[in-house]
Amino acid sequence: MEIKKIGVVGAGTMGNGIAQVCAQIGCEVVLRDIEDAFVERGIKNIDRFLSRSVEKGKMEASEKEAVLARIKGTTNMADLADVDFVIEAVLEVMDLKKKVFQELDEICRPGVVLASNTSSMSLTEIAAATKRPEKVCGMHFFNPVPLMRLVEVIRGHFTDDETVAATTELAKKMGKVTVEIKKDSPGFIVNRIMIPHMIEAIKIVEEGIATIEDVDIAVKAGLNYPMGPFELMDLTGIDICFNVAEYFYQELNKESKWVTPTLFKTMIRAGKLGRKTGAGWYEYGKK
Ligand SMILES: NC(=O)c1ccc[n+]([C@@H]2O[C@H](COP(=O)([O-])OP(=O)(O)OC[C@H]3O[C@@H](n4cnc5c(N)ncnc54)[C@H](O)[C@@H]3O)[C@@H](O)[C@H]2O)c1
Repeated sequence: MEIKKIGVVGAGTMGNGIAQVCAQIGCEVVLRDIEDAFVERGIKNIDRFLSRSVEKGKMEASEKEAVLARIKGTTNMADLADVDFVIEAVLEVMDLKKKVFQELDEICRPGVVLASNTSSMSLTEIAAATKRPEKVCGMHFFNPVPLMRLVEVIRGHFTDDETVAATTELAKKMGKVTVEIKKDSPGFIVNRIMIPHMIEAIKIVEEGIATIEDVDIAVKAGLNYPMGPFELMDLTGIDICFNVAEYFYQELNKESKWVTPTLFKTMIRAGKLGRKTGAGWYEYGKK
């Protein structure tokens, strides 16, 4: 089935980026959030991103208008009744995701794929909240969505081949590189690799082996990473990284490699969460 109309649930950081890339490949988009103000903020962010693209000469002004015209904001879930594909990007809270998937399952046509942008949660558990578990899968984008090239396509326990193929094809149409996660497992590929390098970096500093600055310099110049682990934690939010590490500890058999260093906890207790609070591993001026 050709995908012409896509429902995006959640108009936050990820949802608005996802709505934008869907509209840029010519699809009609229904962007749903719980309050008008959130929907408007999401659409304003898309407008801002596209305006910058026009200023930089990467896009014609007429194309920007056409992309925006394809996105319809709503607070009414029933407006997703005739979509061909759904991408969910609400908060990372399991009970909320289950509730949203239950609602989507009732509203959307049978056979429509319901994909989740969850960063780490079980697709099997989310799918079990619906009567179409074989049509539920993970479609994990990275922030900022229009710029980051990867999409992880995740199989839950019930996901069928058709669903994986349709999701992969859609991501490729958006110009993304895709990888398939064959088994439902916490953190998939990228976060499972990202968190240990953060934990190890903090341990190196805690043990007095090197400074924060030198760890970042070493990782950038020696591994050719674009950002060091401390810079990346400050950008992502130290609390977010910490919560993911704790989640892995619980879900991955309490292996010692997932134990969070004391210094990690101290940063949270000090309210130094990264760029968003004006200070993290580095200082960014008052917020
Ligand atoms: N921010 C990132 O870097 C990132 C990267 C990859 C994946 N993710 C995942 O994407 C998802 C969304 O993250 P985010 O950073 O965009 O969060 P966000 O807080 O920016 O946005 C979430 C939005 O969902 C809305 N919402 C809540 N309940 C809703 C409902 N019932 N129906 C519709 N909308 C509802 C909220 O009002 C909010 O606008 C999470 O699962 C997160 O783990 C985030």
